[in-house]
Amino acid sequence: MARKKILFGNWKMNNTLAEAKAFCAEAETLTAAAAKKDLIIGVAPAYLSLAYVAEHKAGLKVYAEEVHYLNHGAYTGNVSIPMIQEVGAEGSLVGHSERRAYEKENDFDCNLRLKALTKAGMGGIFCVGETLKEFEAGMAEDIIRSQILVGLMGISEADLAHIIIAYEPVWSIGTGKNASEEIAENICKYIRSLIEELYSKKAAQQIEILYGGSVKPVNIHGYLAQEDVDGALVGGASLTAASFKELIENC
Ligand code: PGA
Repeated sequence: MARKKILFGNWKMNNTLAEAKAFCAEAETLTAAAAKKDLIIGVAPAYLSLAYVAEHKAGLKVYAEEVHYLNHGAYTGNVSIPMIQEVGAEGSLVGHSERRAYEKENDFDCNLRLKALTKAGMGGIFCVGETLKEFEAGMAEDIIRSQILVGLMGISEADLAHIIIAYEPVWSIGTGKNASEEIAENICKYIRSLIEELYSKKAAQQIEILYGGSVKPVNIHGYLAQEDVDGALVGGASLTAASFKELIENC
């Protein structure tokens, strides 16, 4: 089965409900534009907009930005998988570097979330990536290797089919300092080889691997043209329908 190209927006703590509604008013236009390019598109909105966006998605994939691994309990401020499932989300981002940095999530937390999501038949976009210091020390592959070894612990090959991996070098997120196409391709290729080592050649050929970090309408084409980059996880440039449409058109 050939891999699809995917364009996914991570809204982070942006877009109020009113702004999310304005985006959804254009959802049909976006999905029609994406269909012409054979692209799968989706967004991860903040919780307060999740139900609305899932109800008016017009073919968009809708994921949460974060989710707890337990179904319910005394975890003030958290949201569970049954809750996001109930409002129509199909999965969640896992291990975004901002969650790792500000909420102290580690690879074991990611593993619990990925296991819980796949057990519930939901999708997970598992974010990995090195910091600038690690990149400069030539440690990118080692860091990513350990993030993936721990993050995917106990995940079967069948469950891996629900997981997308996003390579997001921390130094390129929201900084305008995007990784070169060559760096993105090399690391995505490395991730694919790791999946072959851990699972099988077939799993490696099937898994979708995205690049994320300062992806804009002007540079998206170059990333998606790389053999092992199956799409992009986009923050800032995914917030408005107009900008999202430009991303699609430039793919
Ligand atoms: P950015 O964010 O496109 O604004 O750099 C990407 C991300 O954090 O997923």
